[in-house]
Amino acid sequence: MKLALIGYGNVGRALGRLIANQRREFPFSITGIHTLRHGTAADPNGLGSEPEFGPRAGSIEEFLDAAGAEVAVELTTLDPTSGEPAISHIRAAFARGMHVVTANKGPITHAYADLRDVAARAGVVFRFESAVMDGAPVFNLWRHTMPGVRVLGFVGALNSTSKVVVETMERGGSFEDGLAAARAMGITEAGGAFDVEGWDSAAKTAALANVLLDARTTPQQVSTRGIARLTPERLAAINRQGKTVRLISRARRTGSGVSARVRAEVLDRADILAAPQGTSNILLFHTDLMGTFGTVSIDPGVEQTAYGVFSDLVSCGADGDAATPG
Ligand SMILES: NC(=O)c1ccc[n+]([C@@H]2O[C@H](COP(=O)([O-])OP(=O)(O)OC[C@H]3O[C@@H](n4cnc5c(N)ncnc54)[C@H](OP(=O)(O)O)[C@@H]3O)[C@@H](O)[C@H]2O)c1
Repeated sequence: MKLALIGYGNVGRALGRLIANQRREFPFSITGIHTLRHGTAADPNGLGSEPEFGPRAGSIEEFLDAAGAEVAVELTTLDPTSGEPAISHIRAAFARGMHVVTANKGPITHAYADLRDVAARAGVVFRFESAVMDGAPVFNLWRHTMPGVRVLGFVGALNSTSKVVVETMERGGSFEDGLAAARAMGITEAGGAFDVEGWDSAAKTAALANVLLDARTTPQQVSTRGIARLTPERLAAINRQGKTVRLISRARRTGSGVSARVRAEVLDRADILAAPQGTSNILLFHTDLMGTFGTVSIDPGVEQTAYGVFSDLVSCGADGDAATPG
C-alpha cells in the first residue's frame, strides 16, 4: 500500500523507521513526503530510506497527485484553535478517493462529524488512533472489540505536562521548575501554557466526546479550568491530607446532549486516576453493558504514537476494501 506523508517531524520520522522495520510482514511504501520548510519528495515507485527533498509542491493537491498514493498520512503541527491546515489536507485526500490516517487532534476536535460523513460518502477509511492517547487503543478498541456496548461517558488524566508540574512541586520545586522539566522532556504544546491552562485536555476531551458520544463539540465549548493557579503551598496542604491533584477530563451523555469539562481535581492518592505518573495516562469508559473499564499507557513516547498510526494503516488495508460509498 502506497503512503503520502504530510508532515515529517518526530512522528513522521518514527513512522518511517517503524515501516522500514516491519516491511517484510507489512509491505507499505512511502511514495511522497510533504513538509512546510524542508520541501517535498515524491516518487510513485517509492522513496528510499533517505529521501531527497526538492522544492515544496505548490499545493496539497499537487503533492497528492505527484505521490500517487492510496493513503494520506496527516502528521502536521496541531493548530488547536482551527484544526487547519490539517482539515483542508484531509478533504483534499478524500476528494482524490484516498484513505486518511492522522495523529492530529485538530481535525477530530473541529470537524469530526463532517469528515466522517465525507469519508463514508467517498467510500474511504478515516482513522486517528494516535490523536488522544498515543498508540494505546482508544478509538479502535470500540471499532473492533466491543459489539453492542454503548459509551455513556468517560473520565481520564490525559495531560502529561500538568502531572510533571504537580510532581515537581511535590518534590519541593516551583511551578516554573515543573514547566521547565516538561519542556525539557519535549512534551509541552506551545511552551506549556496550552497544557497547564487545560486546553490540551479540552482538545482531547472534545475529540473523545465527538467520536464516542457524537457530541459535535470543540475545545472552546468544553468547560475548562487548568492548574495554572496551583501553588506549592496549596499542594502541600492537599498532600498533608493524603491527596494530590490531577487535571481530569470528564464527559457524559445527559438528557439534552453531552456535558464535558476539564478541572484540576483533588484526588485521594489511592484513586486510580491519580496513579499514573509523568507522561503515563489513563482513560476509563463508563458503559451500559460493560460497566466501567479502561486503558492505561505507561510512559508512551513517539514510537508509541507512530505505532498508533501504523495500526491505523493496517486497518486501512483490511477495511479499505470493505468501505463502500454510503
Ligand atoms: N509527538 C508526539 O508524540 C505526538 C503524540 C500524539 C499526537 N501527535 C500529533 O502528531 C502531529 C505531528 O507531531 P510531531 O511531533 O511529529 O510534530 P513536528 O515534529 O513539529 O512535525 C510537524 C511536521 O509537519 C510539517 N508541517 C507543518 N505545517 C505544514 C504544512 N502546512 N504543510 C506541510 N507540512 C507541514 C513540518 O514541516 P517542517 O519539517 O518543514 O517544519 C514537520 O515536518 C501533531 O499534530 C501532533 O499534535 C504527536
